Amino acid sequence: MAGAIACGIDGTPAFIMKVSIIIPAAGSGERFGGDKLSRDLHGRPVLVRTIEAFTRRDEVAQIIVAGPPDGFELFADRFGPVLGFHGVDLVQGGRADRWETVSLALQAVNEDATHVGVHDAARPCLSEAMLDRIFEAADRLDAVIPGVDISSTVKEVDRKRSQDVAVTDALADAILGSETADRLEAMPVTRTVPRDGLILAQTPQIFRGDLLSRVAAKGMMDGVSDDASAVEQLGVDVHVVPGDPCNIKITQPEDLALAAAILSGLRSGGL
Ligand code: CTP
Ligand code: MG
Repeated sequence: MAGAIACGIDGTPAFIMKVSIIIPAAGSGERFGGDKLSRDLHGRPVLVRTIEAFTRRDEVAQIIVAGPPDGFELFADRFGPVLGFHGVDLVQGGRADRWETVSLALQAVNEDATHVGVHDAARPCLSEAMLDRIFEAADRLDAVIPGVDISSTVKEVDRKRSQDVAVTDALADAILGSETADRLEAMPVTRTVPRDGLILAQTPQIFRGDLLSRVAAKGMMDGVSDDASAVEQLGVDVHVVPGDPCNIKITQPEDLALAAAILSGLRSGGL
């Protein structure tokens, strides 16, 4: 971190990126069932693994972690020493939505930042190769995000008309009664969505200069689920570069074991 030293082919200094990376870490981990960012991932908390991916990068001059406003003191106590060691700036995020957290963290961005990036704290499996692609593209384009192809068929379903189906087990039902049987939610399909031209957006998303701050100042961040969509509304071209299927977001409890397996592969150079 802190100051890329770049040289042109004749040895003269080339344009130097000074990226401020915002790491929203203020979520409540509802779907995970609690605080996922403190969970152990090969000997370090998930949040620390995520930060470490950026401390290794010359392009990154500042890392801002936005913690939860409720229990912020506890968060600062838990992560303060390691964040301090890495020179990370800590701010309070938003209570309800991720976009609020990003808007608040934008106020802490260094004045001399050439770019602002946003990366989910819950995505700790970052490969050097993908970061190389993102930063290289961000050096040339206004807004860059990683994306991966959708390999499965995409269906639209009507959750309001879902049916509850009991999974029958004759013996268990006879002993325990059928009301204790496992139940399945079966949702009717309303249409199959053509997936041509669709990708799944990931982070880090990187924006040139004060683009994201300008978007936030216009109130265009309000309600968005990813930062690039606010920039798209401004009419700025957002470019997608190949992301990484391993760059998963820890969302459900089973994702933690998956992330641990992916990280083993990345650290052994096998992925
Ligand atoms: N996030 C945030 N501020 C919020 C909500 C989310 O900083 N108000 C962060 C999370 O900490 C996470 C990232 O945004 O790093 C992606 O969000 P998600 O995976 O949805 O995490 P949570 O919001 O914590 O999970 P859930 O939606 O299941 O509660
Ligand atoms: Mg969330």
